[in-house]
Amino acid sequence: MRHSCAVDQREWDELKAAAVDVMGRAYAPYSKFPVGAAARVDDGRVVVGCNVENAAYGVVLCAECGVVSQLHATGGGRLTHFVCVNGDNDVIMPCGRCRQLLFEHGGRDLQLWTVSGIKSMSEVLPDAFGPDDLTTFGGTP
Ligand code: THU
Repeated sequence: MRHSCAVDQREWDELKAAAVDVMGRAYAPYSKFPVGAAARVDDGRVVVGCNVENAAYGVVLCAECGVVSQLHATGGGRLTHFVCVNGDNDVIMPCGRCRQLLFEHGGRDLQLWTVSGIKSMSEVLPDAFGPDDLTTFGGTP
């Protein structure tokens, strides 16, 4: 069954609860800024991730990396709804790099709970570069 349509507030709250839960398992000893992220997949399952830092600071894995890894590790599909939170359980914005990650796996219609309400990926990453651009010179999306 496909779940790409709008979800109600209860379902958003469930998704946020999953993000809050996994945020509690973040490894963020350097920034002290734990992040949890959760996304619904178009078959209805939920995938989650937390940030994992490294003594070599630049090697940090954002929470969204975990989401995308779990997406593929558990069968693939397309992300339809996404939210991420900080250590106060407040909704935060995915960083620029992670918007690109999410775009790859959810496209322009991915719905995000943002600091200014529910928005689509096309609003938070307008005119995104993506797989379709690679076809210009014969690459494969
Ligand atoms: N962080 C994420 O996990 N996702 C984001 O979208 C924003 C930033 C993490 C990376 C780092 O561990 C900490 O937050 C501070 O930047």
